[in-house]
Amino acid sequence: MQLWYHLLFVVGLLTFVFPSAASLLDDILKGLQNADSCASCEALLVPMQTLAHLGNGPFSSTFTTICQTLKMADDDVCAGTYNLTGPILAHSLRKFSVGGTTSKKFCATVFGLCTQPLTSYTVPFPKSVPTTSRKFASKGRKPFQVVHFSDVHIDRQYTLGSEANCTKSICCRNVSDQSGPVKDPAEPFGNSHCDSPPDLADSMFDATREFAPEAKFSIFTGDVIERATWLVDESEGLQDLRQWNVQMTAKVEYPVYGSIGNHDAAPVNSFPRNDTETTIGEQWVFNTQSSGWERWIGATAADQLRHGSGSYAVVVPDANLRLISINTQYWYPQNFWLYDTNTMPADPNGILAFMVGQLQAAEDAGQRAWIFGHIPSGKADIFFDQSNYYDQIVQRYRNTIAAQFFGHSHKDQFEIAYSDFSKQTAETADSILFIAPALTPSSGNPAFKVYDIDPDTFEVMDAKVYITNISDPSFHVKPQWQLYYSARESYGPFVGGLQATDSLNPAFWHNLTEVFETNDAAFQLFNTRLSRGGAVDSCTDDCKTTTICDMRAARSQNNCDIKTPGFQLKREEDSELGQLVLPKGECEGTVARSILAGLVVGGLDDAAVQQILELLSGEEYFEEN
Ligand SMILES: *[C@@H]1O[C@H](CO)[C@@H](O)[C@H](O)[C@H]1NC(C)=O
Ligand SMILES: *[C@@H]1O[C@H](CO)[C@@H](O)[C@H](O)[C@H]1NC(C)=O
Ligand SMILES: *[C@@H]1O[C@H](CO)[C@@H](O)[C@H](O)[C@H]1NC(C)=O
Ligand SMILES: *[C@@H]1O[C@H](CO)[C@@H](O)[C@H](O)[C@H]1NC(C)=O
Ligand SMILES: *[C@@H]1O[C@H](CO)[C@@H](O)[C@H](O)[C@H]1NC(C)=O
Ligand SMILES: *[C@@H]1O[C@H](CO)[C@@H](O)[C@H](O)[C@H]1NC(C)=O
Repeated sequence: MQLWYHLLFVVGLLTFVFPSAASLLDDILKGLQNADSCASCEALLVPMQTLAHLGNGPFSSTFTTICQTLKMADDDVCAGTYNLTGPILAHSLRKFSVGGTTSKKFCATVFGLCTQPLTSYTVPFPKSVPTTSRKFASKGRKPFQVVHFSDVHIDRQYTLGSEANCTKSICCRNVSDQSGPVKDPAEPFGNSHCDSPPDLADSMFDATREFAPEAKFSIFTGDVIERATWLVDESEGLQDLRQWNVQMTAKVEYPVYGSIGNHDAAPVNSFPRNDTETTIGEQWVFNTQSSGWERWIGATAADQLRHGSGSYAVVVPDANLRLISINTQYWYPQNFWLYDTNTMPADPNGILAFMVGQLQAAEDAGQRAWIFGHIPSGKADIFFDQSNYYDQIVQRYRNTIAAQFFGHSHKDQFEIAYSDFSKQTAETADSILFIAPALTPSSGNPAFKVYDIDPDTFEVMDAKVYITNISDPSFHVKPQWQLYYSARESYGPFVGGLQATDSLNPAFWHNLTEVFETNDAAFQLFNTRLSRGGAVDSCTDDCKTTTICDMRAARSQNNCDIKTPGFQLKREEDSELGQLVLPKGECEGTVARSILAGLVVGGLDDAAVQQILELLSGEEYFEEN
């Protein structure tokens, strides 16, 4: 009896002086169980920060154990994910104060439990809008072609005959934990559970030559690396980027103007700001793409890319057109480095300032400009802040910008910007973003776009989508590519009044969204085309309203996906990891976030908490503290 009291006293004292394994873990697990609001999310961040202060190792292994115990993914996926991304999360958790703007942004992104704050900021411009701005008018000359491909996600370890229907988010690889005979063997050109084999990309390049033999150039809006994100380290990432550049050089006969995607780093999404102290840098990405693309973009742009955090600009030879390629990853909420300060800068790494400089140069020279990059400005995947500042730039230079081009969503989409987002009409619609569908078969039928471009206005006259049908038996022998639809031919008659020299301008696309509201057949056509008929989800009622809202939201604060806390935690929509929370088909950055998000939506019951406590409470790193 006395001994028992004595023990209790000692344990109590230890618990008081040092947070014991049990109490720290308990705080985290209970915090996860109870997190259902912004306040409870911020309360949870306190013990998570304590854990992060114990070191990257303890932080990563704790979340690995939680992930493995709950079987949220295969053991190697859990371990690799937190091994790679855990240190970045831990780094940032050590740096910001709970209760501030950064912690709200962190809770908004990771758990969907705070509303993202919007900080007002006025982008500085070197000159005001000229009083007599140059007018660009079509002379009815023959359009030229531009090819747009995106999100190729080439899997260099794609293995013929390996299991295509595996338990990981990416299959068709020879993995050591595959048990039993192969039921669905991987075939030569790909599978909907897998990323692209290199041969599929060659087949696409052959098709671009067939359908756009005289294209002036092509734009590639990023994401080279396969999505086995739990495995890709710097050496593999580097190999992947280099091999893709070699493959493009061998297959493409006209210049390729590329941009960098969130997957084009290792760990995935890892683009630390230039004032972040870390040994995990991303300069190797810029160096690799700079030397790989110099043959197309020239020495000056290659230098900008290398020293300007991945952005560059070129004036197209023989055309009055400036192409501005931007690295959108410093605006991406799942770039977890960005949270490592209480005062997140308005323009990390100066990408917005670079855009302004280039657009001013275009305006001064009487050129038109295109902006292209990976993540479209209106997605929930761009911070409200940077999307708002980006839009200020688009509004200032709307007469110069002829069109914008992006990828990332894997879907065939568009987004419209307005001079007044509270009054969305054909008159206020003033910029248009074209979003290319993905090559990777994991989100529908592999596709690319070909634009017809007016040679005087550089506006888009038509956008044609070409696909190969993965459900057609011929796909596994030799993919057949075909025209899927022409936007002008298909959507033109719905909108009406299109004259031969009219481009598919922002007003046209706005009017199309109005058609979608009243003509459900037209909207369903669009909905089927999102995945090129490859992975169609029914979309009516709220889904339809949200989808149309998002077409009109080139500014993410106007996006309808994320208005209420917790909204993004849509379990039923997951496609990548069984029960987890990844928006279907989207180029979701990392499973690290999805696993954390999954824990606060009922993923953690009392029995699991007990099991995790037992597994982890003996860990040395807790005891030593
Ligand atoms: C991550 O994996 C590497 C290589 O297997 C290992 O050396 C390292 O200790 C691991 N790091 C963590 C935080 O688990
Ligand atoms: C997978 O790897 C093992 C061991 O290297 C090898 O024996 C097997 O043939 C491979 N399977 C396939 C489908 O390539
Ligand atoms: C894939 O595997 C799951 C689970 O083993 C099974 O239910 C499903 O039918 C399989 N799908 C295909 C296309 O083979
Ligand atoms: C880092 O980015 C800032 C913009 O946020 C820029 O002004 C500065 O020149 C950059 N520093 C380096 C070393 O590139
Ligand atoms: C793809 O092929 C399948 C099987 O032949 C067919 O049912 C489907 O309609 C085709 N999809 C498209 C988009 O052509
Ligand atoms: C869009 O609709 C408005 C109102 O019906 C019309 O005035 C305008 O000409 C249309 N614009 C285009 C490009 O279709």
